[in-house]
Amino acid sequence: MQEHHGTSRIPGFYEMSAEERLAVARAFADLSPAETAALQGPEGLSLPQAEQMVENVVGVFGLPLGIATNFAINGRDYLIPMAVEEPSVIAGASYAARLAREGGGFRAESDPPLMIGQLQVLGVSDLDGARDRILSARDDILRRAGEPDPLLRQLGGGPRDIEVRLVGDTPVGPMIVVHILFDVRDVMGANVVNTALEAVAPLVAEVAGGRVNLRILSNLADRRVARATTRIPVEALGHEEYGGLETARGIVEAWAMAEVDPYRAATHNKGIMNGIDAVAIATGNDWRAIEAGAHAYAARSGRYTSLSTWSLEGEAYLVGSLSLPLAVGTVGGATRVHPAARAALKLLGVKSAAELAQVMAAVGLAQNLAALRALAAEGIQRGHMALHARQVAMAAGATGDLITRVAERLVRERAVRLDRAQEVLRELEQGRP
Ligand code: MEV
Repeated sequence: MQEHHGTSRIPGFYEMSAEERLAVARAFADLSPAETAALQGPEGLSLPQAEQMVENVVGVFGLPLGIATNFAINGRDYLIPMAVEEPSVIAGASYAARLAREGGGFRAESDPPLMIGQLQVLGVSDLDGARDRILSARDDILRRAGEPDPLLRQLGGGPRDIEVRLVGDTPVGPMIVVHILFDVRDVMGANVVNTALEAVAPLVAEVAGGRVNLRILSNLADRRVARATTRIPVEALGHEEYGGLETARGIVEAWAMAEVDPYRAATHNKGIMNGIDAVAIATGNDWRAIEAGAHAYAARSGRYTSLSTWSLEGEAYLVGSLSLPLAVGTVGGATRVHPAARAALKLLGVKSAAELAQVMAAVGLAQNLAALRALAAEGIQRGHMALHARQVAMAAGATGDLITRVAERLVRERAVRLDRAQEVLRELEQGRP
């Protein structure tokens, strides 16, 4: 995969035609005519290709594919392909990435690509003894688990470790849950892990002295967490009508609600996933797996909470961070067979699944910032309107509780004007509704 050297800061991208934007993307990532055509739509996925992917195919379903600009992550510029049906997601990500750029963009990092495979062992009477035997057979179990995929081992991946959890009390009696940790390198990992679990299950059953029922990947990929941070000068957040510090405070207040209230956290995290899913879909990744992992991770403390944090550093910087499991691949699965997904990966220019996860974490954080800024600014605007309306009511001659009553009417009617204030005041004084 070649290096991209262009800038992702492309003024006026918003106003270009779709063809002009595609030309920018082609030049940025040196896309071939076939790759360019794949991004454009009709050739993105043919009916025969779709038929090889799933069952009972009747057609191919379209979604808008856009490109978010302005992203700088770990000192590199990225154009971000996003497939999404909701308006304002792509514009929001681009806008927030521009704000983040004022502070040097995003820093991102990720854990090694470790996935967890689970074996459910039943019918064991002596749980402690079985655990000891399984742990003693660790090397044999790991060797057997690695046998189906010598290629993965050559690439530096493969089974790494085992963990044994005893659950004495379940609706079906005692249970042992064996975790096999796999380094899956640049694939999402479901196929690799499930195949290895299949191969190793008989050995684990024998060693444990029980039987294995489930053998399946866990989507709570909490060993494969990606993290992004950003540090934005508060002036960058201002607007003609209100200051940057005021907006930054509003953003921190909005985050604090998600931190303590699961009803808000669900919506807050949904906003984060707006960005992450759009990149997952564009790059052919399994967004349901990512969603499952994200929300389970958000509840890891026992209480569902925000995936991100926002705080003020003094009065100078707004600092944001996001961490979540991101089980994504750049090879294998739909990323290999889907022409538009392949072209989207080329546009991104990521060299590994880890780098893709880092980009997605940055996009999630940007999307969160865009939503919180819009919501906080709206709150500030309303707040300002209410204050302004009181002043207008007083200027119209209102006194006492008439100030509040006139101001409320003006805000409700969105007509904060002196002439209307005088009319409303007259009506109220004459006792009319
Ligand atoms: C809408 O798709 C996403 C938001 O509701 C996120 C949020 O409230 O933070 C705007």
